[in-house]
Amino acid sequence: MKTLFDLSVSSASGIEAVTKRELSSLGISYDRCENGRIYFRGDEKNIAECNLLLRTASRVYITVASFRAEDFDALYAGVFAADWQDYLPADAKIIVSGKCVSSRLMAVSACQSVTKKAICDKLALKYGAPPDETGARYKTEISVYKNTVTLSLDTSGESLHKRGYRGLVGEAPLKETVAAALVDLSGWKTDTPFVDLFCGSGTFPVEAAMKAAGIPAGINRNFDFTEWKNFDFSVFGEVKEKAVAAINKKADFYICGYDIDEKQIKLAEKHAALAGVADMIHLQRRDMRDFSTKKKGGVFISNPPYGERLSDRNSVKKLYRDFGKICESYPDWACFILTSVSDFERHFGKAADKKRKIYNGKLECFYYSYYPVTDEKKKKITKID
Ligand SMILES: C[S@@+](CC[C@H](N)C(=O)[O-])C[C@H]1O[C@@H](n2cnc3c(N)ncnc32)[C@H](O)[C@@H]1O
Repeated sequence: MKTLFDLSVSSASGIEAVTKRELSSLGISYDRCENGRIYFRGDEKNIAECNLLLRTASRVYITVASFRAEDFDALYAGVFAADWQDYLPADAKIIVSGKCVSSRLMAVSACQSVTKKAICDKLALKYGAPPDETGARYKTEISVYKNTVTLSLDTSGESLHKRGYRGLVGEAPLKETVAAALVDLSGWKTDTPFVDLFCGSGTFPVEAAMKAAGIPAGINRNFDFTEWKNFDFSVFGEVKEKAVAAINKKADFYICGYDIDEKQIKLAEKHAALAGVADMIHLQRRDMRDFSTKKKGGVFISNPPYGERLSDRNSVKKLYRDFGKICESYPDWACFILTSVSDFERHFGKAADKKRKIYNGKLECFYYSYYPVTDEKKKKITKID
């Protein structure tokens, strides 16, 4: 393997700023951010750290080559010219995915086929035969944007939101990476209470506890790059060992998740146990309307039901109204809500202090922030009836 690479991490639309902050906290300075990708130079240690530790990134890529191509001959020549033998061994299993935007080359599957042929021809030239594809997986992405081809190797394999603690989940599953970013955006500090009144399968409480205890995001999963022969596995071992040693299992904080559905609470308990945070969070079946606490200065953070079925719309409106009243009765608490319901603020009864567009998968949502009500703010509050 080379010592320095052109790397990038992908991040869901709306949360790139949080991913950039995470990169900075790893001591990585990025060059640029475009179309949900943040680019930087880095080494094997950076690949290991980004995969294991970043809570909000979706994948970590190595850029193998970038060139202009307006037809298949130019595409073949550009792919063939790249140094694939620096990354791929003779038994590499090559899987090519692709996307084409605003380019002369717009036939995605033909671009994928040409790319795979050119890689195999190049490896055949180096190894004396095309790869037999019996070895480790090398997911290769061809992206053609405005006639510029970028070829990347996906070091993560499965998307990083798949932490390994969560299986199939119910309504509007929230991606773990997005949940982690929303916890970060809430500014929650571990010395204040954290409550999710609609916790479902527990993603917010689990992500908050993992962060608070310093449990690496990817501790329960594998990554494709650790199977790669050309990658020095000891680098990953050292990064993981250091990260595990830094876990604070005795961290003291108050995180609660409630849900009206007992099945969801059971699922949340299972996820908390798999994530190693079962004894750090309190989960309980409870209707949000029955919530009460004497604790001061906490944070509510939830994605309540979106009521996507027509039949649910009225009950969701009422739920939001009641939720608004609960939050109003804790004026020294901050409240953060992710929902795709367009007129949420009207139902909730109050205009948000801040509103940020977030994509949960393909679903466009808004993240509404309500900060604690100070005397100064009381004067300015806009009530929506
Ligand atoms: C969109 S899901 C939350 C998904 C969750 N963030 C997760 O990670 O799985 C909304 C949840 O609100 C719960 N819910 C609906 N009405 C409720 C109520 N009145 N009180 C508490 N929870 C309620 C549902 O059971 C459902 O699990």
